[in-house]
Amino acid sequence: MYSKLLLLLSAGLVFSACASENGEDQVADAPPTPTCNTANVTYTLTVAPLLQKSCTSCHNSNFASGGVNLSTYARVRTVALNGRLIGSVNHEAGYSPMPKGGTKLPDCDISQLRKWVEDGAIEN
Ligand code: HEC
Repeated sequence: MYSKLLLLLSAGLVFSACASENGEDQVADAPPTPTCNTANVTYTLTVAPLLQKSCTSCHNSNFASGGVNLSTYARVRTVALNGRLIGSVNHEAGYSPMPKGGTKLPDCDISQLRKWVEDGAIEN
């Protein structure tokens, strides 16, 4: 019973060692792939879906936590331009860290939001 378990464990170790070697080969051979695309960020295709996934459960027209409604472009634009959107998702001092009670957004999501804000938070 115990030895079977050990066998499984060591088989797992060997397998994962091989897997990481393969991974390294692929990295060396493959052309560099973009890890985070901030080139084509738009409100409609990037920002709105992202906010819907992580934020609008607490920030919508019927239930706007902290007075923040993230379900319409005009409202999102306001918190984008006054710095609160990035300040909160980036957990900067002076802002309430968002998403509240959840894990910080992935770096790529934050970069994309930041790019959209820096480009003027336009309705694109
Ligand atoms: C579980 C509910 C919940 C979720 C999910 C959530 N928020 Fe909030 N948010 C709140 C509450 C409650 C407040 C009011 C301030 C406080 O209590 O911290 C708030 C406040 C804010 C503020 C104002 C912060 C300030 O310091 O002025 C912003 C901006 C904000 N949220 C953006 C977001 C964004 C962007 C997301 C998604 C990444 C998000 N929130 C997800 C509950 C939530």
